[in-house]
Amino acid sequence: PATVIVAIDGPSGTGKSSTSKAVAAQLGLRYLDTGAQYRAMTWWMLTHGVDVADPAEVAAAADTPRIDSGTDPEAPTISADGADASGPIRTPEVTAAVSAVSAVPEVRARITGLQRSIAASAEGGIVVEGRDIGSTVLPDADLKIFLTAAPEARAARRGGELKSAEGGRPVDLAATRRDLAERDKADSSRKTSPLRKADDAVEVDTTELTLEQVVECVVTLVEKAA
Ligand code: C5P
Repeated sequence: PATVIVAIDGPSGTGKSSTSKAVAAQLGLRYLDTGAQYRAMTWWMLTHGVDVADPAEVAAAADTPRIDSGTDPEAPTISADGADASGPIRTPEVTAAVSAVSAVPEVRARITGLQRSIAASAEGGIVVEGRDIGSTVLPDADLKIFLTAAPEARAARRGGELKSAEGGRPVDLAATRRDLAERDKADSSRKTSPLRKADDAVEVDTTELTLEQVVECVVTLVEKAA
């Protein structure tokens, strides 16, 4: 097809974002970080007095904020009601609340709708990364990738990201590993659209691979699928 749609799913710390951005940049495709959309919704709720522990309140607010995603893989942007959310969505407060917010069906329906319309209008094609893209959001994607990695590798990668975000201060790897495990458990066990490998997804275990190797592997698969 003239436009290629690539879905990249998997748990946190498997290299999804780095891989997705690099593949999109290399192939001249657009890029959508769906985790950033759920985080922006969560940030908006936290800053607008919504009790994120109350699914009914979350559901009632799900249609209110405008969530805008810029899809340039070299400089992706995310905003809520016009306010730049790219910094605040990475805070521990948002990270701790995002799984509860994204488990609410009204939130998923709203954001899934945004994702489908962005993918449908992406000229040339798009790489969409998340948890349920291949299984639910874009079941007709030309290529579906499911990234995995051993828990130690995932904690080490996420710890490295946190460390650079903290200006080089060391992080507690055991705590990072626990946080990841908790979020995955919540994301995999929710009723609506859980984290799951689509039946027709290609699984890539990134534990022993460098980012460059994963990117090369996915680029080759996209070229075969397009
Ligand atoms: O990818 P990231 O870690 O930024 O995602 C944050 C959270 O957003 C996930 O832990 C999950 O709760 C939610 N999410 C989701 N469905 C997606 C992408 C992210 O539920 N497609």
